[in-house]
Amino acid sequence: MSGSKEDDRKGSSEWREFFWNPRTHELLGRTAASWGLILLFYLIFYLCLAGMFAFTMYIMLLTLDDYKPTWQDRLATPGMMIRPKGNQLEITFSTSDTESWDGFVHNLNSFLSPYNDSYQVQTNDECTPDEYFIQEDSGEVRNNPKRSCQFNRTILEECSGVWDRFYGYDKGQPCILIKLNRVIGMLPGKDRQSPYVTCAAKREDSDKIGLLAYYPPNGTFNLMYYPYYGKKAQVNYTQPLVAVKFLNASLNTDINVECKVTSNTLAAGSDRDKFAGRVSFKLRINDK
Ligand SMILES: *[C@@H]1O[C@H](CO)[C@@H](O)[C@H](O)[C@H]1NC(C)=O
Ligand SMILES: *[C@@H]1O[C@H](CO)[C@@H](O)[C@H](O)[C@H]1NC(C)=O
Ligand SMILES: *[C@@H]1O[C@H](CO)[C@@H](O)[C@H](O)[C@H]1NC(C)=O
Ligand SMILES: *[C@@H]1O[C@H](CO)[C@@H](O)[C@H](O)[C@H]1NC(C)=O
Ligand SMILES: *[C@@H]1O[C@H](CO)[C@@H](O)[C@H](O)[C@H]1NC(C)=O
Repeated sequence: MSGSKEDDRKGSSEWREFFWNPRTHELLGRTAASWGLILLFYLIFYLCLAGMFAFTMYIMLLTLDDYKPTWQDRLATPGMMIRPKGNQLEITFSTSDTESWDGFVHNLNSFLSPYNDSYQVQTNDECTPDEYFIQEDSGEVRNNPKRSCQFNRTILEECSGVWDRFYGYDKGQPCILIKLNRVIGMLPGKDRQSPYVTCAAKREDSDKIGLLAYYPPNGTFNLMYYPYYGKKAQVNYTQPLVAVKFLNASLNTDINVECKVTSNTLAAGSDRDKFAGRVSFKLRINDK
């Protein structure tokens, strides 16, 4: 019994001695010089690691270009998007219920705000239609910043929100805006033929969609808005839009609409990639 107490005391004094040995001046079994060497070793070791990391990062960054991506997926055909942004690509509202379409109108107003004619005149150039607006760099000399072409809001006529400030939503003739996703350097047409948008209903809804109107005429994305050189090079770039107005869509029923872009240089979206060059959404207009 008493022996074990003795052992305890001995054990704890051994521990104390291990922690700090006053005879040899060792802390945790090492002298100050030994600890110092270890700290120095790790300091140099980590400095080297950090240096290597910084060096490889620096070399990597050297190969990047601020103005265009080093790697860009060779998407045969870019995707499309609609405005107003609905819930899950669904545009559902009641003509008589202002609140049901108020959000859509606000969304379109703010989206189209930078397209105001007055703003476009301030920021962008008047370009020659049906021609690419090419602004290449000459060798290493960067031709930046690059100019962009005017896309006046009034080109969208009935869907511009200028004359009809509710974009037809109050009359059951809603406007939907369509944009083609930006791809740097994309040339979407040849022989002065601009790509154009067509919308149709999925087969079972084809008798419900009614007549459509496109703005600008023929639903074209004019070639003068291409090629796009990237956000940093073309600071005031205004993405071209096509507006579709549903003039006589059936009421109180779901209409599945698909819009697609046709171009003589971009491959038609294959069935494999159902987002290439097309967008689908559901439209439902209720009358109360
Ligand atoms: C565009 O015009 C609308 C009114 O027509 C205005 O509310 C909006 O602030 C204008 N936006 C810009 C960017 O000038
Ligand atoms: C845009 O509108 C302004 C002002 O109305 C006009 O001066 C300009 O020519 C228009 N631009 C285009 C490309 O139609
Ligand atoms: C962009 O727009 C601003 C006015 O908002 C204008 O001063 C500037 O020159 C424009 N830059 C280019 C490259 O077009
Ligand atoms: C629309 O297309 C038709 C036939 O393809 C063509 O004759 C007409 O000039 C086009 N209109 C515009 C404004 O591009
Ligand atoms: C609108 O559509 C209805 C059927 O949904 C049809 O009876 C009517 O003739 C159409 N009106 C016009 C102007 O096309």
